Amino acid sequence: MKYTYRKSSLVYATLLICGLIFIQCNDSGDLNEPSTEDFFPEKLYSLDGNGRIVDTEMMPTDFLPSDSCMSCHPNHYNEWNESMHAYAMKDPVFFGGWNGEQLSRPGTGERFCLQCHNPVAFVTGVFLDQYGDSESLQNSNENHVIKEGIGCDVCHTMTKLSTAVVTGDDVSANAEYHYNPGEGIEYGSIENPVANSFHESQYAPIYQRSEICLPCHDFFIRGVEAEITYTEWNRIPAAAMSGGMTCQDCHMVKYPDGHSDHRFTGVDLDLSSPVENTAAYQAVSELLSGALNISPGYPDVDFPASVGSGETLVIPFTITSLTGHALPSGVTFAREAWMEFTISQNGILLFESGLISNDSAGLDENDDQLLLFYSQLLDAQGNHISGVTDAHGIINSTLPGFGARYKSYSFDVPPDITGTLTVSARMLFRSFKPSILEGSHQNLLDNLPVFEMASYQATINIID
Ligand code: HEC
Ligand code: HEC
Ligand code: HEC
Ligand code: HEC
Ligand code: HEC
Repeated sequence: MKYTYRKSSLVYATLLICGLIFIQCNDSGDLNEPSTEDFFPEKLYSLDGNGRIVDTEMMPTDFLPSDSCMSCHPNHYNEWNESMHAYAMKDPVFFGGWNGEQLSRPGTGERFCLQCHNPVAFVTGVFLDQYGDSESLQNSNENHVIKEGIGCDVCHTMTKLSTAVVTGDDVSANAEYHYNPGEGIEYGSIENPVANSFHESQYAPIYQRSEICLPCHDFFIRGVEAEITYTEWNRIPAAAMSGGMTCQDCHMVKYPDGHSDHRFTGVDLDLSSPVENTAAYQAVSELLSGALNISPGYPDVDFPASVGSGETLVIPFTITSLTGHALPSGVTFAREAWMEFTISQNGILLFESGLISNDSAGLDENDDQLLLFYSQLLDAQGNHISGVTDAHGIINSTLPGFGARYKSYSFDVPPDITGTLTVSARMLFRSFKPSILEGSHQNLLDNLPVFEMASYQATINIID
């Protein structure tokens, strides 16, 4: 799938205009509002102050395992099966962080992470603290849906929309889900579904709204905007107000047969084996190659055609986002998007910023010309930390959704050179800052790919 329709800035201009018009005409009302009392029923649960179930009307067996959908929905199943949603309870990086949270906050840590990474365990009150790694959980006798993490019924038994997870200093789980499992009903976006012998189908317009991705894709802690993909999207007036650029429009594109892509392609991959030849790698590569543009110059500053020897060369770029939220988004403090910039002459490197010797090498933190989109978590004293649940602040240096960033490099041209300079800029992305995987996840680091999002090359004449 190509995202070429987003490559044009005209599209964004059009969206902006549409957004302004649609403010008036898209008053769709509250889609949670049932037309009859029991049209969109839900089963309830209540939590104590540590995020543990006090009462629940749901059991794991109410949620159907995803492989029971395979025979009739093979495309949905196969796509979902290679998604990060299916990987949620297999992800060694998740288990590493989750173990750490349980050690530092024994009362709340187990529930806290599972509220988004394993909603069925959360709403049914199944504790998984005895599983220190993915293998022990996957080889256990737990119900299949518990081992799946985010399976079909985690989404398709939702009957109302949720809001973000907002956490206080106690760091306890409090996510609100609205589920009606165990009644043999699958809810979805098909208005007039063909009947089948296995389940009843119920059309629910909420499936075409970005809010269906809540509560998981929006998370605040102590007022800190920790992982706020939905909020970033919602802050883009054109995207949110027109209702025309939902999460589904980019992440669940319709195939010719009418079914929606269930690979949920993002930026991350199962790194436990080499990824370069996999279909999932191709999909991430395609998504990222439509994520932004690099263009030469910026308002009032042209890209130079020539420079005098001995002078300072200033090289300006505009980086324009084509993404419906910040880049990176979600766990921004783990990701890295940066510009690799070089100036060379006849193959000899004269200047570099963001150039790494191999895909798992760290970036030069002392490079004050480095253009890096990421974020840094801070503790109460303002020190840099890595654990999101300890955050009291965040320095957000991401590229805003559909926003632009101007960047210039300066280079002192040596007085003794003549001829031409070759200038090369590439925007690169990797799903992990190497230091996160170093040591405990060295095998994953060895497979970590760097993706190119966009590039620009030019030559500049030196005049004496
Ligand atoms: C016996 C075959 C069969 C099985 C098994 C099956 N489905 Fe379906 N499902 C269908 C058919 C047929 C439709 C209607 C498709 C259409 O109208 O295009 C459907 C529709 C749906 C819809 C759309 C409902 C709507 O109105 O939007 C969802 C969601 C769904 N199924 C989920 C599931 C899930 C989840 C499972 C496994 C737990 C599952 N199905 C198992 C046959 C099946
Ligand atoms: C029940 C919680 C939940 C819901 C609902 C949910 N997600 Fe996710 N999503 C997650 C979690 C957790 C992960 C990360 C799993 C992992 O990598 O371990 C994830 C991962 C992803 C990724 C891959 C991110 C990457 O870095 O590669 C994409 C894309 C995504 N989700 C999109 C969506 C969209 C679009 C929706 C709504 C249609 C949605 N999700 C609904 C919890 C959820
Ligand atoms: C205009 C298209 C577009 C829209 C709309 C959009 N996305 Fe994305 N999404 C992208 C692109 C491109 C990337 C890869 C660049 C990046 O990571 O930001 C991405 C990446 C992601 C990731 C991985 C982020 C990371 O860096 O770890 C998640 C999770 C995600 N999207 C979820 C969502 C959700 C949830 C919504 C709706 C609230 C949404 N997206 C709306 C295009 C879109
Ligand atoms: C993270 C949430 C999520 C998960 C997990 C998920 N779906 Fe969906 N599914 C959706 C959303 C949202 C739509 C509506 C997409 C649209 O119409 O834009 C949808 C649509 C559908 C439809 C209607 C036809 C279509 O493709 O538009 C079927 C059938 C379906 N899903 C089946 C499944 C099956 C089977 C699984 C598991 C193998 C599954 N889904 C897993 C969110 C999810
Ligand atoms: C509010 C819901 C929510 C909570 C709570 C939550 N996560 Fe996540 N987590 C997500 C979503 C959504 C993603 C995918 C975002 C993205 O890819 O940018 C994610 C991504 C991750 C990733 C990156 C996965 C990868 O392979 O790239 C790790 C690791 C992770 N979470 C660990 C944890 C741990 C540990 C906790 C508990 C301290 C936790 N999460 C709590 C929603 C949540």
